[in-house]
Amino acid sequence: MKTRVVTADALEEAGQIIRDGGLVAFPTETVYGLGADALNSEAAARIYHAKGRPSDNPLIVHIAEIEQTERIARNITKKARDIMEAFWPGPLTVILHKKEIVPDGTTGGLPTVAVRMPSHPVARELIRRSGRLIAAPSANLSGRPSPTTAAHVLEDMDGRIPMILDGGSVGIGIESTIVDMTGEIPVILRPGYITREMLEEVAGEVEIDPAVAGRTMQKDVVAKAPGMKYKHYAPKGQLVLVEGSAEKVIQKINEMAKEKVLQGYRVGVIATEETIDRYCTEIRKSIGSRKNPDSVAAGLYRVLRECDELSLDYIYSESFFEEGLGNAIMNRMLKAAGYHLITL
Ligand code: TXA
Ligand code: MG
Repeated sequence: MKTRVVTADALEEAGQIIRDGGLVAFPTETVYGLGADALNSEAAARIYHAKGRPSDNPLIVHIAEIEQTERIARNITKKARDIMEAFWPGPLTVILHKKEIVPDGTTGGLPTVAVRMPSHPVARELIRRSGRLIAAPSANLSGRPSPTTAAHVLEDMDGRIPMILDGGSVGIGIESTIVDMTGEIPVILRPGYITREMLEEVAGEVEIDPAVAGRTMQKDVVAKAPGMKYKHYAPKGQLVLVEGSAEKVIQKINEMAKEKVLQGYRVGVIATEETIDRYCTEIRKSIGSRKNPDSVAAGLYRVLRECDELSLDYIYSESFFEEGLGNAIMNRMLKAAGYHLITL
């Protein structure tokens, strides 16, 4: 299959592909998604096939209007409605009890459904023009970093899907916050741009699924979002995170990098603009600025993909903020590193 990369001019055609049960990759404000008709089991199955994704890992259903939630979800609580009103359209996915109409092929057989109303104009226009609700995981091959540009999608999906809608670089760069609203107290299943503090302002107490809160591998805790149990976002080389005061981190990373270079390995360093010049390796990647956490989130998957292209054996990275958006950044970095974290 030939994969075409097109602009928003092709939205009408993209809508037709979705109606016909096909796949279209499209930009959202978080990462690029790989979309198909959410209420058509066969279309959803094509997503799993194209991504090489385990079929027990459910998809997020994307909607263009809040009212569309009623078509697919039931027993929606007041708190859930308040949260949707406050953060939609935007980078938040809400888990609700599903209605019969949503096929098991979309929810991986779960009695619940993940719903998100994206704010990206191309995403919303695609949903509207297709006349369907669109199931979409991130548009990467399973196990690869999520795509933040159309070029990233093409790297992974060339020959596997008919169309990629190019909307340039995404704004946020990490996937939506997932919050389970099926119980009395909301539970964050995946941290993201919408933080616990932001949710608590609207809905009172909010919990975090213990499986995603930790800084170590949680062996005995089963993640409630099935996707969070997989080793996601992993670069091909071994990523090691180092945390501590800036001076100590720089010294330790330089030490480890030197040793591996002497052993003949290809080594790279990931750091922030403020410190990047302090590292001795030939390959250094700036992820963003410490003064601006948004820039670090936006740079994260790009940098991991660049490390892959260079076939690095070892990648040493500074660690990032622990508060607010920093939680989501560290959650993705720790997973990418297989929880290899050195604390100084
Ligand atoms: O920002 C995003 O959310 C992006 C864009 C494309 O919208 N999408 C995305 O989808 O990240 P994906 O498939 O890569 O991640 C979906 C996550 C998985 O961890 C999955 O297990 C979880 O959502 N999930 C989906 N349905 C669920 C459900 N009913 N209960 C619990 N977790 C669910
Ligand atoms: Mg994903």
